[in-house]
Amino acid sequence: MNDMERHEYDVVVIGAGGAGLRAAIEANALGAKTAIVCKSLLGKAHTVMAEGGIAAALANVWKEDNWRVHFRDTMRGGKLLNNWRMAQLHAQEAPDRVLELEEWGALFDRTKDGLILQRDFGGHRYARLAHVGDRTGLEMIRTLQNHAVASGIDVFMECTLRHLLTDGGRVVGAVGYWRDSGRLIAFGAGAVVLATGGVGKAWRITSNSWEYTGDGIAMALEAGADLIDMEMTQFHPTGMVWPPSVRGLLVTEGVRGDGGTLKNSKGERFMFKYIPDFFRADTADTEEEADRWYEDKRNNRRTPDLLPRDEVARAINSEVKAGRGTEHGGVILDIASRRPADYIKRRLPSMYHQFKELADVDITKEAMEIGPTLHYIMGGIRVDADTEQTTVPGLYAAGEVAAGMHGANRLGGNSLSDLLVFGRRAGASAAEYAKRGATPRIDGTQLGQFADRIAEPFQRSGNENPYAVHSALQDTMQELVGIIRTRSELEEALVRVERLRARAARVRVTGTRRYNPGWHLALDLENLIGVSEAVTRSALLREESRGGHTREDFPKPDPRWGAQNVVARKRDGRLELVTEPIPTAPDELQRLIGDDKPSGEVAVAAAGGAE
Ligand code: FUM
Repeated sequence: MNDMERHEYDVVVIGAGGAGLRAAIEANALGAKTAIVCKSLLGKAHTVMAEGGIAAALANVWKEDNWRVHFRDTMRGGKLLNNWRMAQLHAQEAPDRVLELEEWGALFDRTKDGLILQRDFGGHRYARLAHVGDRTGLEMIRTLQNHAVASGIDVFMECTLRHLLTDGGRVVGAVGYWRDSGRLIAFGAGAVVLATGGVGKAWRITSNSWEYTGDGIAMALEAGADLIDMEMTQFHPTGMVWPPSVRGLLVTEGVRGDGGTLKNSKGERFMFKYIPDFFRADTADTEEEADRWYEDKRNNRRTPDLLPRDEVARAINSEVKAGRGTEHGGVILDIASRRPADYIKRRLPSMYHQFKELADVDITKEAMEIGPTLHYIMGGIRVDADTEQTTVPGLYAAGEVAAGMHGANRLGGNSLSDLLVFGRRAGASAAEYAKRGATPRIDGTQLGQFADRIAEPFQRSGNENPYAVHSALQDTMQELVGIIRTRSELEEALVRVERLRARAARVRVTGTRRYNPGWHLALDLENLIGVSEAVTRSALLREESRGGHTREDFPKPDPRWGAQNVVARKRDGRLELVTEPIPTAPDELQRLIGDDKPSGEVAVAAAGGAE
């Protein structure tokens, strides 16, 4: 405690991906003294894994596009569980956010007329993704980072914040430690913005890197905030499956957007068997029709290879389970036989290098082997649509850590626009709140208790290894809380998660606080386990299949559940779950979405397939 480093800011932003950077830029521009605190190096965020583009109805490629169509696509892709107001704001504001990024120096690919080029992606009616080859997230981070640093915002890198500080129910700061020295650090803040991303590292096969341990979600829960729809997890259909060292690494949806098709081991374009009625009007149902769409998109229905991600991931899972998968348990993604080599190298340079260097596969000549990978969580911290304020005063959230925008399934490309739209809104609201609010008061007793908890793994008795506990958690979530779920498996998962919690409490860390990754993981385990419990309990409660949540024992969407959020909150140290009605969209927006509702059994077939 005596050695603790202390800082005071108006706004502290935790996380330096797209949402965190955009929030900090806005708060700073409004005159708030702002800091960004990030666990990793600046620029090393999951944002870079949104490779294919930023969804925004710029109408550069299709004049017919506009925010209304984007809103409709987002709501339908989210299986109508979305917070309609967030989907509306997102669709309306995304074009301005993209143009602003361009003004700040982002170098987008261009149409022949010099406009920002847009590509096709799953679930979007029109080619809508503004992109930079297949490195869009990277370019976005580079641009925002330069802008933030040039604006003079203070950045604390490789600094993990563990607990939110509260005073009378209001968030007034956060406490954590420097990853290199282990020294404690506390921030007093008029407002805190959480932008820490998701919890992919709870699963074995994931596109997420080591930072994604559910920190923001766990901190918000501990501070009393509500979470919603934690059962809604996204398995991106296309991750690498071979070699094992890179299993789960993302293969951008841009491959399919630019002409790639999916095939099973028999060479069949299997997606035609998995078109749900909800998307039938927009989807080609023969190969001939799909091929016409590839060549001339006007007036043609889209290929089912570009159905929303939940549909494609489930279809791949069914094909593999039915014995029509590849040698390494994936399916085939082929662009080599459909597009010339120079086109592939120009449009998908990262994919070309990724497969060449990591798998010795030349994607201009050979097919890729791919399979689903845990990529994103649609559930997260409940926020007000307009301000991004959580249910706890002084605490804001934006990006993947926040929930509502994407409903039961996120459309590809909607995350980058989400980060920009709601990052900006969160930063503005936090700055405004900090200006209005009383000077934050840090409670020394609370600070001391949190400091003790951070040091606690050094004091424990026990001989558990944090890496072994983490590995067991990843197996549990992968096997029992995966693409297809069922009551008995979810119950088994909960039993195992409880056992892992007990094991995690026996992890004793040795050595000093300097450069001690075992200690860091011992602390992260608490978050991973707490958030995994919230996902699993929410998945048990929602007895239907919708979007990213498929229950084998309840294989259809249920209209009663379609009108409910699953809300999780901590009370007296225990996780409490309730359901609450989702807000209903006004009539004029309802009309844009259409009258039909998701219906019909989803493909949960094991052996025998889904014919
Ligand atoms: O496939 C991709 O490029 C990922 C995009 C996203 O998650 O939005």
